[in-house]
Parts: sequence; structure tokens; C-alpha cells
Amino acid sequence: MRTIVVVILGSLALLAVAQAPSYKAKPVGNLKQVMRSIPYPNSDIIFAVQTTAPKDDDEWKKVQNAAIAISETANLITLPGRLREDGKPVPVQNADWNKFARGLVEAGQACYKAALSKNQEAVSGCTDKLSGACSNCHDVYRDK
Ligand code: HEC
Repeated sequence: MRTIVVVILGSLALLAVAQAPSYKAKPVGNLKQVMRSIPYPNSDIIFAVQTTAPKDDDEWKKVQNAAIAISETANLITLPGRLREDGKPVPVQNADWNKFARGLVEAGQACYKAALSKNQEAVSGCTDKLSGACSNCHDVYRDK
């Protein structure tokens, strides 16, 4: 009887270990590092289309990927626990912060759609929305 109980408890413990998530989303860099590593280089890829049209499918794919990275940035900058460069918490609880983050999702999606159409003018058309999504938030939160 005791053996059975031990075996059952042992199996339950193993099961619990197997099911425990081995990773929980948490910030790695500060906000400035995220800005420099994700939205900054990826918005450059999209802005560059205004002057130089991608010349083949591979190059269009890079623009599409950059647009996805822009939208995904919203998830990273609304993750609780991230700090700004100065050590203050990113204000993820603020309504306008979340509204500005949503602006990135929308701008990224607009640019993604434009990049899928492989039309230089269409991508140029999404860049106002994109730069607006950055500056709307920077006006309130970065430059002060
Ligand atoms: C929801 C708000 C928000 C949005 C949207 C946003 N940023 Fe930022 N950004 C900030 C804040 C706040 C900082 C200051 C970082 C800090 O304090 O750690 C910053 C800093 C930066 C920096 C660092 C500047 C430096 O001093 O090196 C770059 C580059 C940057 N953002 C690019 C972008 C780009 C490009 C976009 C749009 C595609 C964007 N950001 C969208 C809030 C935002």
C-alpha cells in the first residue's frame, strides 16, 4: 500500500515538473535598448522603400518582416516589469501608453498589407502612419 502511494505521489510530482512552464515572459533589455533593437532598424527598412523599391521577392519579404516586427513591438513595450533607461518603470498602466502601443500595431499592419502588395507607392503611403505612431508617443513620453 505504502509503495503504491509513493509511486502515485512520485508520478504526480513528475507530471507537475513536466507541466510547469519552463519560461515566463519577462523583459531583458531596458526600453531604450528595445527601441534601438526592434522598432528603429525595422522602421528604417520600411522608410527606405520610399527611395529604393525592393527588387525581388526576397527584398519584399524583408519589408513584410519589418512590418511584423513593428506590430510585435507593442507586445514588448506593454510587458509589465520593464524599466526605462533611467530606471523608472515603463508606464504600462497608462491608458495613453497602451493607445500609442496599439498605434504601432495598426501602423505595422498597414505597412504589412502594403508590403504584401509589393507596391512601392503603397508602402510609401503607410510611412506617415508609421512615423506618426512613433512620434505620438515620443511627444508625450520620450522628449520630456
Ligand atoms: C508607446 C510609446 C512609444 C512608441 C509607440 C515608440 N516609442 Fe520609441 N521611445 C519611447 C520612449 C519612452 C523612449 C525613451 C526610452 C527610455 O527612456 O528608456 C523611446 C526611445 C526611442 C529611441 C532611443 C533614442 C535614443 O536616445 O537612442 C529610438 C531610436 C526610438 N524610440 C525609436 C522608435 C521608433 C522608430 C518608433 C516607431 C516605429 C518608436 N520608437 C515608437 C516610447 C515609444
